[in-house]
Parts: sequence; C-alpha cells; structure tokens
Amino acid sequence: MAAIILSMSEPMNTTPFQGAGAGPFDLASRASYARWREWKLGVYPQKVEQLIVPVNDPGALDADEKKALLACCNRANMAIYQLAAGNGSGKQLVRALGRQFGLERLDNNLRADEDSITSLRVVPEAGKTHYIPYTNRPLNWHTDGYYNSPAEQVRAIVMHCAMDAVHGGDNSYLDHEIAYLLMRDENPDYIAALMQPDAMTIPANVENGVELRAAQSGPVFSVQPLNGSLHMRYTARTRSIVWKNDRNTRLAAGFLAELLASDSAYIFRHHMQAGEGVICNNVLHRREAFTDAQEKGRQRLLYRARYHDRIRGTELNTVWSGV
Ligand SMILES: [Fe+2]
Repeated sequence: MAAIILSMSEPMNTTPFQGAGAGPFDLASRASYARWREWKLGVYPQKVEQLIVPVNDPGALDADEKKALLACCNRANMAIYQLAAGNGSGKQLVRALGRQFGLERLDNNLRADEDSITSLRVVPEAGKTHYIPYTNRPLNWHTDGYYNSPAEQVRAIVMHCAMDAVHGGDNSYLDHEIAYLLMRDENPDYIAALMQPDAMTIPANVENGVELRAAQSGPVFSVQPLNGSLHMRYTARTRSIVWKNDRNTRLAAGFLAELLASDSAYIFRHHMQAGEGVICNNVLHRREAFTDAQEKGRQRLLYRARYHDRIRGTELNTVWSGV
C-alpha cells in the first residue's frame, strides 16, 4: 500500500482514472477485482484500536499525525482521532481538520446550522418528527446524504464528539468497500442489481403539505469516474424507502441487512469520548441508543460536517497500485 502525503495546496489526482471499466469495481474486470480483493483483505484492520490516532493540535497536524490518519483511511476509509486533553472541541476544529485533507465543499443539509456544520444533540421537539438524529433513539445503518441528488453526494464526513453520553451512544462502522467485497463474493448479480440507477428511491420529503425535497432515485454502489473510487448510498430504514421491485435487488438488500445485523469481524464498534472524532469517506455507520446525564452541560454533543469531497489522498488510483 502506498500512503502518499500531499501538499495542502495541490489537488491530487489530475490524471483521470482510465474509466470505470478498467477498475476492480466493474463486474467485467474479474482479474482486477481479484487483485484488489487480495490487497484489501490484507490491509483491512483487525480491530478498531488500529484506527485510532492520537493528535495534538487538529488544526495543525504534524506530518506523522497526518500520515497516520491517511494510512488508516487508505486501509479502511476511516480513522478515529484522539485529541490531547484540553485542545479544544469547537466547530472551527472540525473545519480546520477537514481542510488538511482537501475537505472544503460542505453539504448544506436541511437541518445544519448556519455554518453548514450540524450540532447533533437531543432536541426535545425532534421526538415528534421523523428526525431520529436529534433524539436519543438508535440510528440504524446508513451512509450520510443518501437522499441527496447525484451532484451533491456526500463523499466524506468529519464527526467530532464534544461530549459523550453517560450510557450508550456507541457507533459502529463498516467500510463500504468491504460491504461491496462481501456481496460480490456472495453473488456478483447482487452488485449489478445495486448499481442500477433506480435501485433505491427515497420518496419526496413533505412537511405540512410542502415538498422540502423531491423524490430521489439512484444506485447503491457507484464508481467515481475521475478516480475509480467506490461510493455507496444506503439506508437500512424500511419506511420511507422504495427498493426496485426485482428479485436480485430484493435479495441484495436482504443480504446487506443481514450482514449489518451480524457480528461480522469487519464491523468496528467504538464509544467516542469527548475529544475524539472520526474522519471517513462516508462509510456505513450506525448509532446506538443513549442516555444523557441530568446535569446541565453534560449532554451528548457531536459536530458533524458533511462534504462533497472525498478525503484527498484516498482515491483508488492513489492507494492501490493495481489499477
Ligand atoms: Fe450519519
């Protein structure tokens, strides 16, 4: 694996990927897939501790810290950073950290604060709506922005824990490339089904008779044309989602649901402490239910930034030499 440390000013991949047909995620490329699969399984971490990187100042990472975070992302599309005590926890930290990995273009979602970074905490009124992120209820497996248009897909996320819950609230993560790999091993036809442009449809978001977002159809798995990287949009929700009505799509969705409900060793579980955060290429994730402390100022609080950029230096044609 070649982890490449980048200059902060230069965009990395100026050489276009040689078309999705040449890459391992194309079903026609069996040899390429076999090589990539062997590489991926060889580098994928065995436990969550291998993804944790202590950092001193997230706003100005040193070369070793940055290299270590990037190495984790190259292996598993995610890294967990751990701040030295007392080194801040504000939103500006999230922004500054992302910028060092080429994360600039924030997704401006419906519920984000004015600065497009969302404060995730229990909001009492949210219980009356369908917005589970703002309650203490469990949040089922998903990738972020699965309801976004194709042009505004969320490629990366930074999620910083300013305060953790007293009980629960653990996150689980699964690299979406591993989900792809396990599914392709099971049955390549499932991949073909989930690459259909109308595999998964999210109905329009209508509140009080007003359409806030139009219905959105799209594939579950897609390949970024410029760099060959795999992207996934997914939700395990069974309400407010319409799967394409064909046999392989149904079976593929069932396979995914079973995988995510299993105790697969590829799934990493972690309780984020205050001062920890995750930077990832929008891997599959979920959150367990949690209980907040009664005392004021001790409520779980996460800052979440969603980006249309992928983490710079983690493009398939950068991390894997077999393209
Ligand atoms: Fe999420």
